[in-house]
Amino acid sequence: MIRSIFLGSGSALPARAVSNEELAKTVDTSDEWIRERTGITQRYLAGEGETTATLATEAARRALDDASLTIADIDLIVLATATPDCTFPATATLVQKALGGAGFPAFDVAAVCSGFLYALGTADAMIRGGMASKALVIGAETMSRLLDWEDRATCVLFGDGAGAFVIGAAEVAGDKADQGILATQLHADGAHGDLLYVDGGVSTTGTVGHLRMKGREVFRHAVTNLAQVLADVLAKSGHVAADIDWVVPHQANLRILDATARKLGLSMDKVVVTVDTQANTSAASVPLAFDTARRDGRIQRGQLVMLEAMGGGFTWGASLIRI
Ligand code: UT7
Repeated sequence: MIRSIFLGSGSALPARAVSNEELAKTVDTSDEWIRERTGITQRYLAGEGETTATLATEAARRALDDASLTIADIDLIVLATATPDCTFPATATLVQKALGGAGFPAFDVAAVCSGFLYALGTADAMIRGGMASKALVIGAETMSRLLDWEDRATCVLFGDGAGAFVIGAAEVAGDKADQGILATQLHADGAHGDLLYVDGGVSTTGTVGHLRMKGREVFRHAVTNLAQVLADVLAKSGHVAADIDWVVPHQANLRILDATARKLGLSMDKVVVTVDTQANTSAASVPLAFDTARRDGRIQRGQLVMLEAMGGGFTWGASLIRI
């Protein structure tokens, strides 16, 4: 059978890191509160000239290099973002142009913090369906431009960045020992849209708006939904939790990562944590965390890696992949 296999990854962060202490000079907060409630110590914030598209392009270039491929080998770009450079054209087409590609499909998906899982699931289905052979899948955000810097309950939580995978079609045996994406599950429940949303938009206020969140309620749903989808994806793949080498979760809050790992009976030693230094980068956080752990030697070829995320919508999902 045909599966989408992992060919390479890359990531990019803005030049400027901002510590909790620095933030506390302009926001009514403290390093102690942020660390205790979230595990975050700093975040990267985009400066002049840095946009979702420029960060995405840099991450994509690194992923292509890692896969020893060029844009000429790619026939699909799916980019997840909630903070596009423009309402249209899609940021994916800006990346396509910057990389020197043309002709093949390139589009954005909007599923907020679960966006990378949605983008990966879409690209995987298109590859298995014969519509593409090698895809760039990107999660990229400049969340700092969507924040209300007067709202301490949200502005301390987010950061900017981008991460990218290259995946491609390969003939495999069709069993659970295969390389590649073994199982994916995506969910949405619009009933909870008012717990995490942006209070503006093209068709309503005509403005960009600001991110709003009822943090405590989102937290509660996140732990329940993630534990369920992880169990479902494991069952679908024929694997059990003990088979997982690494969990690469959406990086929203260290306490959510801890509670989810506990529900799965997994040690935190198997969970990749970047929320401490990168904060919550929404759709970028899963590929950014993955690439960080791959480049520092933690994630190795042949290992079984669970990607998972939950965010606005609500949307949530997970994907099990043998690297
Ligand atoms: O990425 C998409 C998914 N997002 C998430 O998964 C986020 C989920 N939620 C969370 O991570 C947590 O709920 C937060 C980190 C957002 C908040 O932590 P919490 O323990 O739920 O705190 P809280 O919102 O209940 O606020 C507790 C207190 C409040 O004060 P009172 O009412 O108890 O006096 C807040 O006003 O902390 C206060 N507070 C702050 N204090 C200092 C809220 N933000 C801050 C702040 N600095 N930045």
